[in-house]
Amino acid sequence: MTTQPITQPTQPEITKEIRDIEADAARAAAAGGRPERHARRDYAPYRSSVLRHPTHELVRVDPEEVERFSPAFGHTDVDVLESDLTIQHSGEPLGERITVSGRVLDGEGRPVRHQLIEIWQANSGGRYVHKRDQHPAPLDPNFTGVGRAVTGDDGSYRFQTIKPGPYPWRNHLNAWRPAHIHFSLFGSAFTQRLVTQMYFPGDPLFALDPIYQSITDPAARERLIGQYDHDESVPEYSLGYVWDIVLTGPKSTRMESEEDHD
Ligand SMILES: [Fe+2]
Repeated sequence: MTTQPITQPTQPEITKEIRDIEADAARAAAAGGRPERHARRDYAPYRSSVLRHPTHELVRVDPEEVERFSPAFGHTDVDVLESDLTIQHSGEPLGERITVSGRVLDGEGRPVRHQLIEIWQANSGGRYVHKRDQHPAPLDPNFTGVGRAVTGDDGSYRFQTIKPGPYPWRNHLNAWRPAHIHFSLFGSAFTQRLVTQMYFPGDPLFALDPIYQSITDPAARERLIGQYDHDESVPEYSLGYVWDIVLTGPKSTRMESEEDHD
């Protein structure tokens, strides 16, 4: 018996699939359908989503007794230094030092206060500290890539970190993820956790990336991009990006399922 070699799809093939789905979605929206603001769970250009997307309706869970006693986080539980990813080791990490700040808001623009935000990201070379990430980019002994913060009374948060690099993944031949930072918002109970990603403006990989493109509404995709803000840059020190997270309503930030992690 001979085995067939496994051939990976090429970027042009994946890009064509992305564009075809996008055109279908645009036609549906033009015909009066609702824009698709959230990622498609079953999105063929993102190959593994085909196998692992949920196939049943979500189970609605109302918080019950145990939920009411689950951990809740306040200012005293999370040290302010945990939001600085550049001071976790003996030396400074390599890369472009940045701040990422913004507000967590509900659909009416009201601040969502005292929320635990966790972030994780690759280093400036595009490498995660994770045994599954073995691609030949250097680890940085001074960068782990995880941090957390609690939003203030005005819903604000702020992280100091370094700009992550793009990295290869094996969705298809020559597949590269745009630079991004993963965000988790814990909510006030385990059933409320939301996970998303922030991107950086002007990334040439946006059009090629099946994860970013799995949101078919272009306006919703744009809302995942942090904005460079010169007023947030610190002279001689760091560049500032601002990114607000809107939890509900037509301007909400796209959230992803737990199993998305690339
Ligand atoms: Fe990632």
